[in-house]
Amino acid sequence: MNSPITRVFGFLLVVLGVYLWIGYSITALTGSGDEAAAVVEITPEGGEVIYWGKGRCFTCHSVGGQGSAVRGPNHGQFGEKFQQSMGARAVERALARTKKEGVEFTAVDYVVESLASPGAFVVEGYKNEMAVVYAPPISLNLKEIKAVTAYLMSLGGDLDMEAIDTAPSEITKKLYSKIAAAAEAGGGDPELGAEVFEDNCVECHSLGEDDGEIGPNLSGIAASGLKFISESILAPTKSLTKGYETYVVINNEGRQFIGLKTRDADGEVDITNALGDVETITKSDIKEIRIDDTLSIMPDDISEVLTVKEYQDVLSFLMLQKPAEEE
Ligand code: HEC
Ligand code: HEC
Repeated sequence: MNSPITRVFGFLLVVLGVYLWIGYSITALTGSGDEAAAVVEITPEGGEVIYWGKGRCFTCHSVGGQGSAVRGPNHGQFGEKFQQSMGARAVERALARTKKEGVEFTAVDYVVESLASPGAFVVEGYKNEMAVVYAPPISLNLKEIKAVTAYLMSLGGDLDMEAIDTAPSEITKKLYSKIAAAAEAGGGDPELGAEVFEDNCVECHSLGEDDGEIGPNLSGIAASGLKFISESILAPTKSLTKGYETYVVINNEGRQFIGLKTRDADGEVDITNALGDVETITKSDIKEIRIDDTLSIMPDDISEVLTVKEYQDVLSFLMLQKPAEEE
Protein backbone atom coordinates (compact mmCIF):
# COMPACT_ATOMS: atom_id res chain seq x y z
CA MET A 1 0.00 0.00 0.00
CA ASN A 2 2.55 2.51 1.15
CA SER A 3 5.16 1.77 -1.47
CA PRO A 4 7.18 4.66 -2.90
CA ILE A 5 5.20 4.29 -6.13
CA THR A 6 1.81 4.84 -4.49
CA ARG A 7 3.19 7.72 -2.49
CA VAL A 8 4.70 9.37 -5.52
CA PHE A 9 1.48 8.78 -7.38
CA GLY A 10 -0.56 10.33 -4.59
CA PHE A 11 1.72 13.31 -4.59
CA LEU A 12 1.35 13.60 -8.35
CA LEU A 13 -2.42 13.66 -7.98
CA VAL A 14 -2.25 16.50 -5.48
CA VAL A 15 0.02 18.44 -7.78
CA LEU A 16 -2.22 17.73 -10.76
CA GLY A 17 -5.21 18.92 -8.75
CA VAL A 18 -3.47 22.18 -8.02
CA TYR A 19 -2.61 22.57 -11.69
CA LEU A 20 -6.20 22.01 -12.70
CA TRP A 21 -7.48 24.37 -10.08
CA ILE A 22 -5.39 27.27 -11.26
CA GLY A 23 -5.08 25.96 -14.79
CA TYR A 24 -7.49 28.28 -16.39
CA SER A 25 -5.95 31.41 -15.01
CA ILE A 26 -2.41 30.52 -16.01
CA THR A 27 -2.68 29.20 -19.54
CA ALA A 28 -2.20 32.68 -20.91
CA LEU A 29 1.31 32.93 -19.57
CA THR A 30 4.65 33.08 -21.31
CA GLY A 31 3.09 34.27 -24.50
CA SER A 32 1.39 31.05 -25.53
CA GLY A 33 -2.21 29.98 -25.20
CA ASP A 34 -3.49 33.52 -24.84
CA GLU A 35 -6.88 32.45 -26.17
CA ALA A 36 -7.72 30.66 -22.94
CA ALA A 37 -7.21 33.73 -20.75
CA ALA A 38 -9.99 35.09 -18.64
CA VAL A 39 -11.46 38.20 -20.20
CA VAL A 40 -9.25 40.95 -18.97
CA GLU A 41 -8.20 43.85 -21.11
CA ILE A 42 -4.71 45.22 -20.68
CA THR A 43 -6.07 48.72 -20.11
CA PRO A 44 -6.48 50.96 -17.06
CA GLU A 45 -10.17 50.01 -17.00
CA GLY A 46 -9.34 46.31 -17.05
CA GLY A 47 -6.87 46.89 -14.24
CA GLU A 48 -9.38 48.82 -12.20
CA VAL A 49 -11.70 45.81 -12.26
CA ILE A 50 -8.87 43.58 -11.04
CA TYR A 51 -7.83 46.07 -8.38
CA TRP A 52 -11.27 46.20 -6.79
CA GLY A 53 -12.01 42.54 -7.47
CA LYS A 54 -9.88 39.46 -8.03
CA GLY A 55 -6.61 41.21 -7.14
CA ARG A 56 -7.93 42.07 -3.67
CA CYS A 57 -5.70 45.15 -3.66
CA PHE A 58 -8.54 47.04 -1.97
CA THR A 59 -8.19 44.89 1.14
CA CYS A 60 -4.94 46.75 1.93
CA HIS A 61 -4.93 49.80 -0.35
CA SER A 62 -7.25 52.72 -1.03
CA VAL A 63 -7.27 55.14 -3.95
CA GLY A 64 -7.76 58.68 -2.66
CA GLY A 65 -11.11 58.71 -0.86
CA GLN A 66 -12.17 55.51 -2.56
CA GLY A 67 -11.99 52.56 -0.18
CA SER A 68 -10.93 52.56 3.44
CA ALA A 69 -7.98 50.14 3.75
CA VAL A 70 -4.80 51.60 5.25
CA ARG A 71 -2.49 48.63 5.63
CA GLY A 72 -0.67 49.59 2.43
CA PRO A 73 0.02 53.05 1.00
CA ASN A 74 -2.90 54.94 -0.55
CA HIS A 75 -2.58 54.79 -4.33
CA GLY A 76 -4.33 58.10 -4.88
CA GLN A 77 -3.69 61.64 -3.71
CA PHE A 78 -4.63 61.74 -0.07
CA GLY A 79 -3.81 64.24 2.65
CA GLU A 80 -0.32 65.32 3.58
CA LYS A 81 1.15 61.89 3.38
CA PHE A 82 0.18 61.10 -0.20
CA GLN A 83 0.70 64.25 -2.20
CA GLN A 84 1.01 62.40 -5.47
CA SER A 85 -1.05 59.61 -6.99
CA MET A 86 0.71 56.34 -7.76
CA GLY A 87 1.52 57.10 -11.39
CA ALA A 88 3.39 60.28 -10.47
CA ARG A 89 4.78 58.85 -7.25
CA ALA A 90 6.30 55.96 -9.21
CA VAL A 91 8.58 58.40 -11.03
CA GLU A 92 10.12 59.46 -7.72
CA ARG A 93 10.32 55.95 -6.36
CA ALA A 94 12.06 54.93 -9.60
CA LEU A 95 14.75 57.55 -8.93
CA ALA A 96 15.34 56.05 -5.51
CA ARG A 97 15.59 52.57 -7.05
CA THR A 98 18.01 53.82 -9.71
CA LYS A 99 20.21 55.34 -7.03
CA LYS A 100 20.22 52.20 -4.94
CA GLU A 101 20.71 49.62 -7.71
CA GLY A 102 22.86 51.65 -10.09
CA VAL A 103 20.67 50.72 -13.06
CA GLU A 104 18.01 52.96 -14.46
CA PHE A 105 14.49 52.21 -13.25
CA THR A 106 11.49 53.70 -15.03
CA ALA A 107 8.20 54.40 -13.28
CA VAL A 108 6.74 51.27 -14.86
CA ASP A 109 9.72 49.23 -13.65
CA TYR A 110 8.99 50.46 -10.15
CA VAL A 111 5.31 49.52 -10.21
CA VAL A 112 5.96 46.13 -11.78
CA GLU A 113 8.71 45.45 -9.26
CA SER A 114 6.42 46.28 -6.38
CA LEU A 115 4.12 43.54 -7.67
CA ALA A 116 6.79 41.02 -8.66
CA SER A 117 9.22 41.44 -5.75
CA PRO A 118 7.39 43.36 -3.06
CA GLY A 119 10.31 43.03 -0.66
CA ALA A 120 12.76 44.79 -3.01
CA PHE A 121 11.61 48.22 -1.88
CA VAL A 122 9.50 48.63 1.21
CA VAL A 123 7.74 51.98 1.44
CA GLU A 124 8.85 53.89 4.51
CA GLY A 125 6.42 53.59 7.40
CA TYR A 126 5.04 50.25 6.16
CA LYS A 127 5.90 46.66 6.82
CA ASN A 128 7.00 44.19 4.19
CA GLU A 129 3.56 42.63 4.07
CA MET A 130 2.42 43.34 0.56
CA ALA A 131 0.78 40.18 -0.81
CA VAL A 132 2.49 38.03 -3.46
CA VAL A 133 -0.35 38.68 -5.86
CA TYR A 134 0.69 36.11 -8.50
CA ALA A 135 0.63 33.25 -5.98
CA PRO A 136 -2.41 31.61 -4.44
CA PRO A 137 -4.92 32.59 -3.24
CA ILE A 138 -4.90 35.72 -5.43
CA SER A 139 -3.06 34.14 -8.39
CA LEU A 140 -3.10 37.01 -10.86
CA ASN A 141 -1.74 36.02 -14.24
CA LEU A 142 0.65 38.12 -16.27
CA LYS A 143 -2.11 39.78 -18.27
CA GLU A 144 -3.87 40.81 -15.08
CA ILE A 145 -0.60 42.13 -13.63
CA LYS A 146 -0.12 44.25 -16.75
CA ALA A 147 -3.68 45.53 -16.51
CA VAL A 148 -3.28 46.50 -12.86
CA THR A 149 0.01 48.23 -13.73
CA ALA A 150 -1.80 50.22 -16.42
CA TYR A 151 -4.43 51.22 -13.87
CA LEU A 152 -1.86 52.40 -11.32
CA MET A 153 0.15 54.28 -13.96
CA SER A 154 -3.01 56.01 -15.14
CA LEU A 155 -3.43 57.47 -11.65
CA GLY A 156 -1.66 60.78 -12.14
CA GLY A 157 1.07 59.30 -14.31
CA ASP A 158 2.22 59.08 -17.86
CA LEU A 159 0.44 56.07 -19.28
CA ASP A 160 2.83 54.36 -21.69
CA MET A 161 1.11 51.18 -22.82
CA GLU A 162 4.13 50.10 -24.85
CA ALA A 163 6.34 50.12 -21.80
CA ILE A 164 3.71 48.11 -19.96
CA ASP A 165 2.67 45.66 -22.62
CA THR A 166 4.28 45.38 -26.02
CA ALA A 167 7.78 46.81 -25.53
CA PRO A 168 8.76 46.41 -21.87
CA SER A 169 12.19 47.51 -20.65
CA GLU A 170 14.81 44.91 -19.72
CA ILE A 171 13.96 45.25 -16.03
CA THR A 172 10.23 44.88 -16.57
CA LYS A 173 10.81 41.98 -18.95
CA LYS A 174 12.78 40.13 -16.29
CA LEU A 175 10.12 40.76 -13.67
CA TYR A 176 7.42 39.59 -16.06
CA SER A 177 9.26 36.34 -16.70
CA LYS A 178 9.59 35.84 -12.99
CA ILE A 179 5.84 36.24 -12.59
CA ALA A 180 5.12 34.01 -15.59
CA ALA A 181 7.43 31.29 -14.32
CA ALA A 182 5.95 31.43 -10.87
CA ALA A 183 2.39 31.29 -12.09
CA GLU A 184 3.19 28.54 -14.57
CA ALA A 185 4.55 26.41 -11.75
CA GLY A 186 1.31 26.64 -9.83
CA GLY A 187 2.03 29.94 -8.23
CA GLY A 188 5.35 28.90 -6.77
CA ASP A 189 7.68 31.60 -5.59
CA PRO A 190 11.04 31.41 -7.37
CA GLU A 191 12.86 33.20 -4.55
CA LEU A 192 11.75 30.60 -2.04
CA GLY A 193 12.46 28.00 -4.72
CA ALA A 194 16.07 29.10 -4.79
CA GLU A 195 16.27 28.20 -1.11
CA VAL A 196 14.60 24.85 -1.67
CA PHE A 197 17.16 24.21 -4.39
CA GLU A 198 19.99 25.24 -2.09
CA ASP A 199 18.73 22.89 0.62
CA ASN A 200 17.88 19.83 -1.47
CA CYS A 201 19.59 19.89 -4.82
CA VAL A 202 22.96 21.67 -4.81
CA GLU A 203 24.77 18.71 -3.36
CA CYS A 204 24.35 17.17 -6.80
CA HIS A 205 23.38 19.95 -9.21
CA SER A 206 24.93 23.25 -10.03
CA LEU A 207 23.81 26.20 -12.10
CA GLY A 208 25.98 28.50 -14.14
CA GLU A 209 29.51 27.73 -15.17
CA ASP A 210 30.53 24.80 -13.01
CA ASP A 211 29.70 21.22 -13.69
CA GLY A 212 27.29 19.50 -11.38
CA GLU A 213 29.03 17.62 -8.62
CA ILE A 214 27.11 14.44 -9.37
CA GLY A 215 24.06 15.33 -11.45
CA PRO A 216 23.82 17.39 -14.62
CA ASN A 217 24.25 21.15 -14.59
CA LEU A 218 20.76 22.65 -14.66
CA SER A 219 21.43 26.03 -16.31
CA GLY A 220 19.07 26.37 -19.21
CA ILE A 221 16.83 23.60 -17.93
CA ALA A 222 13.76 25.82 -18.43
CA ALA A 223 14.04 25.03 -22.13
CA SER A 224 13.09 21.43 -21.36
CA GLY A 225 9.71 22.59 -20.18
CA LEU A 226 7.67 22.30 -17.04
CA LYS A 227 6.46 18.77 -17.69
CA PHE A 228 9.93 17.36 -18.18
CA ILE A 229 11.30 19.10 -15.10
CA SER A 230 8.48 17.98 -12.85
CA GLU A 231 8.82 14.40 -14.11
CA SER A 232 12.54 14.49 -13.51
CA ILE A 233 11.87 15.32 -9.88
CA LEU A 234 8.91 13.03 -9.28
CA ALA A 235 10.16 10.02 -11.21
CA PRO A 236 13.89 10.38 -11.94
CA THR A 237 14.18 7.00 -13.64
CA LYS A 238 11.54 7.82 -16.22
CA SER A 239 13.94 9.73 -18.38
CA LEU A 240 17.55 9.30 -17.37
CA THR A 241 19.73 12.10 -18.60
CA LYS A 242 22.18 10.90 -21.24
CA GLY A 243 25.63 10.48 -19.76
CA TYR A 244 24.18 9.98 -16.27
CA GLU A 245 23.13 6.38 -16.58
CA THR A 246 23.41 4.27 -13.48
CA TYR A 247 26.06 1.54 -13.61
CA VAL A 248 26.09 -1.59 -11.57
CA VAL A 249 29.54 -3.13 -11.19
CA ILE A 250 30.25 -6.44 -9.49
CA ASN A 251 33.85 -7.29 -8.74
CA ASN A 252 35.49 -10.69 -8.53
CA GLU A 253 34.78 -10.87 -4.79
CA GLY A 254 31.10 -10.33 -5.49
CA ARG A 255 31.04 -6.81 -4.10
CA GLN A 256 28.57 -4.51 -5.82
CA PHE A 257 29.08 -0.85 -6.71
CA ILE A 258 26.23 1.34 -7.92
CA GLY A 259 26.75 4.79 -9.34
CA LEU A 260 27.76 6.88 -12.28
CA LYS A 261 30.74 5.87 -14.36
CA THR A 262 32.81 9.00 -13.91
CA ARG A 263 36.09 7.71 -15.38
CA ASP A 264 37.05 4.92 -17.71
CA ALA A 265 40.78 4.95 -18.44
CA ASP A 266 44.11 3.26 -17.74
CA GLY A 267 42.47 -0.09 -17.16
CA GLU A 268 40.32 1.37 -14.39
CA VAL A 269 36.75 2.50 -13.88
CA ASP A 270 35.55 5.08 -11.36
CA ILE A 271 32.06 4.65 -9.96
CA THR A 272 30.64 7.65 -8.08
CA ASN A 273 27.72 6.93 -5.80
CA ALA A 274 24.86 9.22 -4.73
CA LEU A 275 26.91 10.59 -1.86
CA GLY A 276 29.70 11.59 -4.18
CA ASP A 277 32.02 8.83 -2.96
CA VAL A 278 34.28 7.51 -5.70
CA GLU A 279 35.35 3.87 -5.94
CA THR A 280 38.14 2.96 -8.34
CA ILE A 281 37.95 -0.58 -9.68
CA THR A 282 40.58 -2.15 -11.93
CA LYS A 283 39.06 -3.68 -15.02
CA SER A 284 40.68 -7.05 -14.39
CA ASP A 285 38.78 -7.14 -11.09
CA ILE A 286 35.40 -6.59 -12.76
CA LYS A 287 33.19 -9.64 -13.09
CA GLU A 288 30.16 -7.80 -14.43
CA ILE A 289 29.38 -4.24 -15.52
CA ARG A 290 26.04 -3.09 -16.84
CA ILE A 291 23.71 -0.10 -17.02
CA ASP A 292 20.57 -0.38 -14.93
CA ASP A 293 17.97 1.90 -16.41
CA THR A 294 15.54 1.28 -13.57
CA LEU A 295 17.83 3.14 -11.19
CA SER A 296 18.74 6.78 -10.92
CA ILE A 297 21.35 8.30 -8.68
CA MET A 298 18.83 11.04 -8.13
CA PRO A 299 16.70 10.02 -5.15
CA ASP A 300 13.11 9.16 -6.04
CA ASP A 301 11.73 10.18 -2.68
CA ILE A 302 12.44 13.89 -3.00
CA SER A 303 8.73 14.45 -3.47
CA GLU A 304 8.20 13.11 0.02
CA VAL A 305 10.78 15.40 1.51
CA LEU A 306 9.33 18.50 -0.11
CA THR A 307 5.94 19.99 0.65
CA VAL A 308 3.72 20.69 -2.35
CA LYS A 309 4.48 24.38 -1.88
CA GLU A 310 8.25 23.78 -1.87
CA TYR A 311 7.89 21.63 -4.96
CA GLN A 312 6.03 24.43 -6.75
CA ASP A 313 8.59 26.94 -5.54
CA VAL A 314 11.52 24.93 -6.87
CA LEU A 315 9.70 24.30 -10.15
CA SER A 316 9.17 28.01 -10.65
CA PHE A 317 12.82 28.62 -9.80
CA LEU A 318 13.92 26.09 -12.41
CA MET A 319 11.53 27.55 -14.98
CA LEU A 320 13.61 30.72 -14.70
CA GLN A 321 16.86 28.93 -15.61
CA LYS A 322 16.79 29.96 -19.24
CA PRO A 323 19.61 29.23 -21.67
CA ALA A 324 21.99 32.17 -21.71
CA GLU A 325 21.65 32.94 -25.40
CA GLU A 326 17.88 33.34 -25.15
CA GLU A 327 17.74 37.05 -24.19
C1 HEC B 1 -2.02 42.06 2.37
C2 HEC B 1 -2.08 43.46 2.04
C3 HEC B 1 -1.80 43.88 0.61
C4 HEC B 1 -2.43 43.47 -0.54
C5 HEC B 1 -3.52 42.44 -0.70
C6 HEC B 1 -1.83 44.25 -1.61
N1 HEC B 1 -0.86 45.08 -1.12
FE1 HEC B 1 0.28 46.40 -2.16
N2 HEC B 1 1.31 46.92 -0.50
C7 HEC B 1 0.99 46.47 0.77
C8 HEC B 1 1.92 47.06 1.73
C9 HEC B 1 1.94 46.82 3.23
C10 HEC B 1 2.78 47.91 0.98
C11 HEC B 1 3.92 48.76 1.53
C12 HEC B 1 5.16 47.93 1.76
C13 HEC B 1 5.93 47.67 0.49
O1 HEC B 1 6.33 48.65 -0.15
O2 HEC B 1 6.13 46.50 0.13
C14 HEC B 1 2.34 47.79 -0.42
C15 HEC B 1 2.93 48.48 -1.49
C16 HEC B 1 2.41 48.51 -2.77
C17 HEC B 1 2.90 49.37 -3.82
C18 HEC B 1 3.98 50.43 -3.70
C19 HEC B 1 3.29 51.68 -3.20
C20 HEC B 1 4.14 52.90 -3.16
O3 HEC B 1 3.68 53.92 -2.59
O4 HEC B 1 5.26 52.90 -3.66
C21 HEC B 1 2.13 49.10 -4.94
C22 HEC B 1 2.28 49.74 -6.30
C23 HEC B 1 1.19 48.08 -4.56
N3 HEC B 1 1.38 47.74 -3.25
C24 HEC B 1 0.24 47.55 -5.42
C25 HEC B 1 -0.68 46.55 -5.06
C26 HEC B 1 -1.64 45.99 -5.99
C27 HEC B 1 -1.82 46.41 -7.43
C28 HEC B 1 -2.31 45.01 -5.29
C29 HEC B 1 -3.38 44.07 -5.81
C30 HEC B 1 -3.09 43.34 -7.04
C31 HEC B 1 -1.78 44.99 -3.94
N4 HEC B 1 -0.80 45.94 -3.85
C32 HEC B 1 -2.21 44.14 -2.94
C33 HEC B 1 0.01 45.57 1.13
C34 HEC B 1 -0.82 44.90 0.23
C1 HEC C 1 22.03 12.54 -4.98
C2 HEC C 1 22.15 13.42 -6.10
C3 HEC C 1 20.94 14.23 -6.59
C4 HEC C 1 20.11 15.04 -5.85
C5 HEC C 1 20.11 15.31 -4.36
C6 HEC C 1 19.19 15.65 -6.81
N1 HEC C 1 19.48 15.19 -8.08
FE1 HEC C 1 18.54 15.73 -9.79
N2 HEC C 1 19.66 14.40 -10.87
C7 HEC C 1 20.70 13.64 -10.34
C8 HEC C 1 21.24 12.79 -11.40
C9 HEC C 1 22.40 11.80 -11.24
C10 HEC C 1 20.51 13.08 -12.55
C11 HEC C 1 20.70 12.40 -13.92
C12 HEC C 1 20.02 11.06 -13.94
C13 HEC C 1 18.53 11.19 -14.08
O1 HEC C 1 18.07 11.78 -15.07
O2 HEC C 1 17.82 10.71 -13.19
C14 HEC C 1 19.52 14.08 -12.19
C15 HEC C 1 18.61 14.65 -13.07
C16 HEC C 1 17.81 15.77 -12.77
C17 HEC C 1 17.05 16.51 -13.74
C18 HEC C 1 17.00 16.24 -15.24
C19 HEC C 1 18.15 17.00 -15.87
C20 HEC C 1 18.28 16.83 -17.35
O3 HEC C 1 18.89 17.72 -17.97
O4 HEC C 1 17.82 15.82 -17.90
C21 HEC C 1 16.39 17.50 -13.05
C22 HEC C 1 15.47 18.58 -13.64
C23 HEC C 1 16.76 17.38 -11.67
N3 HEC C 1 17.63 16.31 -11.53
C24 HEC C 1 16.30 18.21 -10.67
C25 HEC C 1 16.61 18.05 -9.32
C26 HEC C 1 16.06 18.87 -8.26
C27 HEC C 1 15.09 20.03 -8.46
C28 HEC C 1 16.59 18.42 -7.10
C29 HEC C 1 16.29 18.92 -5.70
C30 HEC C 1 14.91 19.04 -5.31
C31 HEC C 1 17.47 17.30 -7.42
N4 HEC C 1 17.46 17.12 -8.78
C32 HEC C 1 18.21 16.57 -6.48
C33 HEC C 1 21.15 13.65 -9.05
C34 HEC C 1 20.54 14.32 -7.98
